[in-house]
Amino acid sequence: LSDGPLKGVRAVVTSGPTHEAIDPVRYIANHSSGKQGHAIAAALARLGAEVTLVSGPVHIPDPAGVRVVRVDSAVEMLNGVRAALPADVVVCAAAVADWTVANRATEKRKKKVGAPPPVIELAPNPDILMTVSKAEGGLRPRLVVGFAAETEALLDNARDKLARKGCDWIVANDVSEGSGTFGGDANLVHVIDADGIDSWPRMGKDAVAARLAERIANVLRGL
Ligand code: PMT
Repeated sequence: LSDGPLKGVRAVVTSGPTHEAIDPVRYIANHSSGKQGHAIAAALARLGAEVTLVSGPVHIPDPAGVRVVRVDSAVEMLNGVRAALPADVVVCAAAVADWTVANRATEKRKKKVGAPPPVIELAPNPDILMTVSKAEGGLRPRLVVGFAAETEALLDNARDKLARKGCDWIVANDVSEGSGTFGGDANLVHVIDADGIDSWPRMGKDAVAARLAERIANVLRGL
């Protein structure tokens, strides 16, 4: 397999949720299972790429033929991605928390009778996709692919993310209630780049991953 179309290509994929600690026993998270990101890492490896998967906490097996770096928080995920650069292609499929807890407690927060509930203060997390897309000093990968998880105005918001974050493609998926995208086995995506929108039918996350890996291989081989 190492002589597939992506032989010699270095790829980094982010996957899963991040956990932002409130105290030693509690955290803020989301419903990402890692299925889509892990499937992309596996599909790139099957085409011969040398893949580093930087994954938040998930309950699915490691994909075959991939180096896995396990992290908890967004800051750890950014550090994991940075350590894996330089790369030819980076795919950010993780559902990274936009905010972390600014007033994280070092001891478990206690419930005190008669006291008001604690106030959790949030602070912005670094944007991994934007950091990679705007990397300087020769560290900007040839291809940077982001995802857009939207519950409304899917294509408009996705196009806005493509421009704002500076990536090359955005894979837009609808994650509204009832879509089953978070945690489910299927996905309906639109791949948006400077040339327009490529809308794919709803299919299994493995099939989305295989088709995305093919598209990546075609671009990196200059087809
Ligand atoms: O894990 P699954 O259950 O299989 O579900 C798959 C998925 C729905 C999580 C996946 O397909 C997906 O859409 N991932 C991106 C989720 C997300 O956080 O989207 P966003 O629109 O908030 O972020 C836009 C892009 O910026 C994403 O590429 C995200 O990885 C990236 N980002 C966001 C915030 C941040 N601090 N750093 C980032 O890199």
